[in-house]
Amino acid sequence: MKPDSYYITTPIYYVNDKPHSGHAYTTVLADVLARYQRMFGRDTWFLTGTDEHGQKVQEAAAKAGIPPQAHVDRTVQRFVEAWKRLEIRNDDFIRTTEPRHKVIVQEILQDLFDRGEIYRDEYDGWYCVSDERFFTEKDLAAGKCPECGRDVQRVREANYFFKMSQYQDWLVEYIQAHPGFIQPDFRRNETLGFLRKPLQDLCISRPKSRLAWGIELPFDRDYVTYVWFDALVNYISAIGYRRDDARFARWWPAIHLIGKDILTTHTVYWPCMLKAMGVAMPKTIFAHGWWLSGATKMSKSLGNVVNPIDMLERYGVDPFRYFLMAEMAMGQDASFTEEAFIRRYNADLANDLGNLLNRVVSMTGKYCDGRLPAPEPGAFQQGPAAALLAQAAAAAAALKTAVENFTLQAGVAQVIEVVRATNKFIETRQPWTQARAADRGPLHTTLYAAAEALRICAGLLMPLMPGKMTDLRAALGMENPMTVNPDELTKSEVLKPGAQVAAPGALFPRIDAPTPAAETPPPQKVPASGTVGNPEGVLAYEDFAKVQLRTAKIMSAEPIEGAVKLLKLSVLMGDERRQIVAGIALYYKPEQLIGKTVVVVSNLAPIKLRGVESQGMLLAASKGECLRLVTVDGDLSSGAIVK
Ligand code: MSP
Repeated sequence: MKPDSYYITTPIYYVNDKPHSGHAYTTVLADVLARYQRMFGRDTWFLTGTDEHGQKVQEAAAKAGIPPQAHVDRTVQRFVEAWKRLEIRNDDFIRTTEPRHKVIVQEILQDLFDRGEIYRDEYDGWYCVSDERFFTEKDLAAGKCPECGRDVQRVREANYFFKMSQYQDWLVEYIQAHPGFIQPDFRRNETLGFLRKPLQDLCISRPKSRLAWGIELPFDRDYVTYVWFDALVNYISAIGYRRDDARFARWWPAIHLIGKDILTTHTVYWPCMLKAMGVAMPKTIFAHGWWLSGATKMSKSLGNVVNPIDMLERYGVDPFRYFLMAEMAMGQDASFTEEAFIRRYNADLANDLGNLLNRVVSMTGKYCDGRLPAPEPGAFQQGPAAALLAQAAAAAAALKTAVENFTLQAGVAQVIEVVRATNKFIETRQPWTQARAADRGPLHTTLYAAAEALRICAGLLMPLMPGKMTDLRAALGMENPMTVNPDELTKSEVLKPGAQVAAPGALFPRIDAPTPAAETPPPQKVPASGTVGNPEGVLAYEDFAKVQLRTAKIMSAEPIEGAVKLLKLSVLMGDERRQIVAGIALYYKPEQLIGKTVVVVSNLAPIKLRGVESQGMLLAASKGECLRLVTVDGDLSSGAIVK
């Protein structure tokens, strides 16, 4: 290993899924960290990819009526496309169906089998088809799968097991002796908590009779490899493990970025597998939090995902990347709402950064014919210009530390502070007043220093917003605006006086937030015939207009004790969460409702039904014994007005 090399990975995503903003977060984060490291001159490798074996892929391919390989060749494109559009610069993309990966998994299995690390045994226990995992009796939650709550099957069959249990003591000691190994600290404690219970051996096979779409065990053709044993190996098969020692040594050990949902597989299974193989441990496994939609995890099965492509089409790729990085403190959960996006965009990008560029460009145009003026001699040795540039240099140092320590959000916040300080610097020095003085020196220093601070901020934000920051640096007259030399981030007087400064158009035009009032349909003129003398049963338009109907997404549903017809629902209407009690229990099972977009009377006064508050009413159509909820045709976000 070269001491300073940097190898960063994302989880490999299930190829069946459509990439959503949760997946986009991990990938953008890895991309941003990799771009910083490249910028700081470090030898960097960034790997992402797709997890392509398993039951769900087999089922989806069967449903589509095509062979699994053809199916994954098609669906993988969604990820490849999405990452391209999100400006992801990964160095490699691994697919677990590629021969370069499969052969390494088989060699590892054969080696572990030959060395007695894998043995065959009779398995008797519970199996969850959806999660493709085995559970013991006491793992079950009220007789159901502890992971997904679905029914489990009793299974008795011969399988192959990896002797994971023998590594338990070693792993606990390793984690305790290496505080940086699992981060953040509270996740490390979570793994140590998990390891307080006896560790079981890991079942690493699935009989082909049940699941054929996987990597065949080299020592028993009737079985395929358990998906996680296959998937984790991608991190080493992609960089030449057992094929190219020099290449492997150049990159390994890795920094694994993962979501908190896959902590155990990465911090327990994977280290034990590596230990058995005799491979060094990863440098760090960093588990970030979840993007939530309202209060629940954004995920396909809950039907509450935010499509990253929609976001970038609406607001541009760079603002979307910026939001993901600036809004979520690494490790914590964060809530994804369009409102939060617009708020942050307007505050940081439109009002602060975009505005600063506009000021510098327009005042340089007005007072200096669009050419960057030369500062007064010694202006950067002491005084306000020197202090401003010192603050920018300090932000550069802080950002570098933040990248190393996985506290990116704090580092970015410091850069935005410099932007604010520069705007303040302009307000305090009042170049519009300085321009009236006979001595133009102070004016020139003000404009030049503001441009310099802006140059440093743009360089520091380049990994987050490569397109916009290149435009910004070009606007300041830099010759090579795309390439940031790390030395220039702590220096002053880098911009060339006399350079042409020109606006690229509004860099971050302000977004007017859709106000609830703007969404409400304008008052309609009531037809004269509807206002007076209505025939019986005919509703005046103005009365109908009082009823507000909105779309809502059902996030959870549960029975109400003692009320056989009622279900208690939690729905999301835009950013608002509501509890609704609906008399639909005889027609829908709770699990059938989750993720449905329904129509709600949203301005009904709350009432209590069987002691449970209901804040609205669902629309449903019923005839005879049948009742069906009114839903919307196709995709529409929740909270939309129904008119
Ligand atoms: N295929 C496995 C990983 C194997 S790695 C050897 C898998 N795939 S996944 O498609 O479900 O993707 C999981 C990863 O996507 C999470 O670990 C996380 O990085 C990211 N996210 C998925 N949903 C997310 C959120 N709602 N919020 C943040 N990240 C999320 O598990």
